[in-house]
Amino acid sequence: MKILFLILLTSATRATTDVEKFLSPNAVMRQLFEIFRNTIKNGNNENNVPILDPFKILQNELNIHHANMRLFANITNGVYSGLGDFQLKEIFFLKEELAIDLTLLFPKLIMESDNYEMKGYIFGLFLFGQGILRFEVKNLEIKSKVHLTLSENGIATLIGKFENPQFSVRKILSNTEFDGNIDCIINNIVKDVLAAYITRFNKYILYTFSETIKNYINIFLDRFDTWRIISSLR
Ligand SMILES: *[C@@H]1O[C@H](CO)[C@@H](O)[C@H](O)[C@H]1NC(C)=O
Repeated sequence: MKILFLILLTSATRATTDVEKFLSPNAVMRQLFEIFRNTIKNGNNENNVPILDPFKILQNELNIHHANMRLFANITNGVYSGLGDFQLKEIFFLKEELAIDLTLLFPKLIMESDNYEMKGYIFGLFLFGQGILRFEVKNLEIKSKVHLTLSENGIATLIGKFENPQFSVRKILSNTEFDGNIDCIINNIVKDVLAAYITRFNKYILYTFSETIKNYINIFLDRFDTWRIISSLR
């Protein structure tokens, strides 16, 4: 948290109007997100966070078992990128509720791998294939009220719960090998329908996975001593 402290200290020496502008809770929240972006892109040894954009993983087996979703995927040399390029479209700190109203846009998320194997279905849509994988998700916009809470160790700010989360995806481009015969047909189907399909079911997807998503984000947030700052905004 040295960086933020420095920013706050520097801003305190400016003219009053500037200070007020700088220290508004929303401005402080924006600074926090810049620190997160920096950590996502560069990692942070001190806080024990690896580089998350691009995030490289040698072997990655995914097993999803839900009523409407069953998926097994085995991904070799996966590279995920774009996480650190988020745009903070809207952030509004709600003092009384200790929450933020948040709209985040990811302009381009890329997922690729040397080799993958996948089978399963999502809402009756069959997914299968093996070979080289490359998906590009364009304009993923996430909107939610996020309730904040103090971590168990008493220093970090974690997500308590998402309230009314939703997301939309504008386009998903695929250059993926499925069965080697009709790849371009399937890639075109993906391009034409997958984004709309996922967007249509976004609330159900979030309802199913928001606890898992929350837990992953909280592992990240737990490494930062942000509670002092958040509680000073109240
Ligand atoms: C996943 O892929 C790797 C590499 O091809 C292979 O060694 C491993 O057995 C696979 N795992 C499963 C569960 O199929």
